[in-house]
Formats: sequence, structure tokens, C-alpha cells
Amino acid sequence: MKQLLLIPGPTPVSEGVLQALSQDTIAHTDERFVRIMSETLLKVKTLFGADKGHPFVIAGSGTLGMEMSLTNILNDKENLLVISHGYFGDRFIEIGNALNVNVDVLKAPTGETVPIDVIERTVKDKHFDAITITHVDTSTGTLSDVEAIAKALHNISPSTLIVVDGVCATGGVKEQFDDWGIDVIFTGSQKAIAVPPGLVMLAFSERAIAKRKSIEKVRTYYGDILRWMPVMEDPHRYFATPAVNMVYALNKSLNDIFSFGLESYFEKHTTLAKKVRNAMSVMGFELVSKTPAPTLSVFKYSQGISDSEFRSRLYGKGVVVAGALAELQGKAFRMGHMGSVTEDELLVAVKKIVEVLKGMGVVVNKSNEKEYELQRSKGDVFEAFLG
Ligand SMILES: Cc1ncc(COP(=O)(O)O)c(C=O)c1O
Repeated sequence: MKQLLLIPGPTPVSEGVLQALSQDTIAHTDERFVRIMSETLLKVKTLFGADKGHPFVIAGSGTLGMEMSLTNILNDKENLLVISHGYFGDRFIEIGNALNVNVDVLKAPTGETVPIDVIERTVKDKHFDAITITHVDTSTGTLSDVEAIAKALHNISPSTLIVVDGVCATGGVKEQFDDWGIDVIFTGSQKAIAVPPGLVMLAFSERAIAKRKSIEKVRTYYGDILRWMPVMEDPHRYFATPAVNMVYALNKSLNDIFSFGLESYFEKHTTLAKKVRNAMSVMGFELVSKTPAPTLSVFKYSQGISDSEFRSRLYGKGVVVAGALAELQGKAFRMGHMGSVTEDELLVAVKKIVEVLKGMGVVVNKSNEKEYELQRSKGDVFEAFLG
């Protein structure tokens, strides 16, 4: 039985992308690879809306992107403001501490976002050299309003460099690097881009690169953008061996996404999120986030449902969802609906969830108003999904 991988990354990889991945490995200096790499870099710019940005495709996971985005733009003891909407926002605090920069944090209660006026007040009161925004925090499923935060920063503190973690957003949610005035953005291959884990894609603005050039002693070697830039500008050059087959896969997936249409791809994510949530709400599941992202849903368990039993029963039926992180552990589960996943696959997942709940003898209570006996409400669940 083929598993339906509905964790928030890695996400299912299409046959076409798997085939691209399994093509012959050729020399990274071979003209054929150089051409594919150059094409892929152009597509990465389009993906981020970064015509003016400098693109990078590097072997590594999303965390490398987080680290590169800070090491390349911050000196020792410079000021970093972290806007945290959960576990992945908090990771920037740890990276900042490891780099010996001064970290201030604005942290929202679980499922909420930091209000813009709080960010505005904070950057009025103190100068920050950089700010990090996690576009979608995968721990709570919360979507940040990057455009509004960037706008506020440009008005109040134009010299602050803006770093956006797009790992769980890029491809599933619109991002406009140039128009929103972002300085560094990055994503991983394994989420909405629907490629196996292993690549990080980034874009740096001119002023982020100028900042890197002003740093005398950068605290990274592999992650130094000045070592990578010559390669990205001319992939005949060598700094460190590129992940040749992964680049084939990324190129193929981006081709598929652009043939489908980037705007249509965003819409697909929005539509699927709505369908899943409609069906799950009939079953009594509420979202953790007040501003839920289109790429994943973090559903709270209603009373009495055991996380480990629910997920292992679902796993037994071929559907894999993820446990929640940090303070939500055991109280919620995370379901990805991004990348190549289809409406039919999600409908299968919803059916399996209904079966699992029935098997557990769960009678789901909707809004404490009315008892929903799953046997009877089955029709409602599917009607809700199908809209
Ligand atoms: C928003 C976000 N940022 C960063 C990361 C870290 O990425 P990786 O696990 O690929 O290192 C993740 C991983 O899920 C993430 O969801």
C-alpha cells in the first residue's frame, strides 16, 4: 500500500519528479548540468518574486537557510529582532544566540500573531540591524502578514534588513521579494515545492549582499554567500559539489508548477485547505491558529482523543500525519496539504480519519452544542469537503 504522506514536509513527490531525480548523474561541470542549474536559478527568482534578487540553490535543509540568512548579514553583537509565532520562529533565537548577536523577541501566544502596532513600537524604540519573520510557522500553522510587517518596517526603520523564512510557505503562498522589499528569503525543497528533502533555495537583495561584503570575519565557510555567488552567476565554476540529481528534481518540479501556473498553484492550496478544514470542523476539530496558512492545518483534538492512538491507527490505514510540537504535543496534530497532493488524496484522508474515529468509538462534539454521531454525520463530512 502506498502511503499518503500528509505531514508538513516532506510532502509527496510525483512520478515525474522521481524520474528526473533518477536520471544519470553527470559531472557538475558538464554543459548539460550547467544549463539546468542556470535555468533552475532563474525559476527560483520567479518563485520568490525576486527579479532583482540574487538566487542560490545549495545542498542542505531549511535550517541551513536560517543560519545562512543570519551569518551573512549580522556582525557580532548586532541587534536582531525575532518575530516568533512558534517553534520555528524560536529557532532563530537559538541561531542568533549561537552567533553571538543580541536577540530581542516578540513572541505571540500559541496560534496568534504579534500585532503590527507592537512591532512598530518596538522598532521605534530601538534600532535593529535585522528582523526575522517566519512566513508560516509549521508548529502552529500560523500565517504571518509579511507584506504588512515589511511595509511598517520600511516606514519606521528603513535600514533594518528583513529576513523571511519561507520554508512552509513558498509556492503555497504568494511572496513578493522585490515588491515587499525583503532582503533575504529562503525555502526548502521538501514542502510546497514537492521535491525530496535536501536543497535550500535562497534569494539575497543587493543591500543584504553589500552588508555581507562589509563583514570582515564571517562565521561560516560553507554558508558564505560570497563563496557561492560566483557559482550561481556561472555554474561552470566550483566551490562545493552541487547536488546534481536534486537539482534535476527541483528543475522538473518548478517546470510543473509554472506550467500549472504559480497563481493557480496558490489557489489550489487555498481551496484544498478550505475543503479539509470544512470536513474536519464537521468532525469537531478546531484549528490552533487564528490566521491559518493554506499549506498545513494544526488541528486540536477534542476531548479524550489520544494522539498516539489516533495517529498510529491512521498510519495503519496508510495516512501519515504529524504530531504537534512543543506545548501542543499530544494536544493537536499537524496535517500538510501542500505541494503535489490532490483533492482526491485529501478526500481519501478524510474518509480514513472518519474510519479511525469510529474505530476509536469517538463521538465528536461540535462546539458543545450538539452531539455528532459520526455514523450519522458521515454525509455532512463529505458534503463539507466537497463544498
Ligand atoms: C518554517 C520552518 N522553518 C525552518 C524549518 C527547518 O527546516 P529543515 O527541517 O529542513 O531544516 C522548518 C522545518 O519544518 C520549518 O517548517
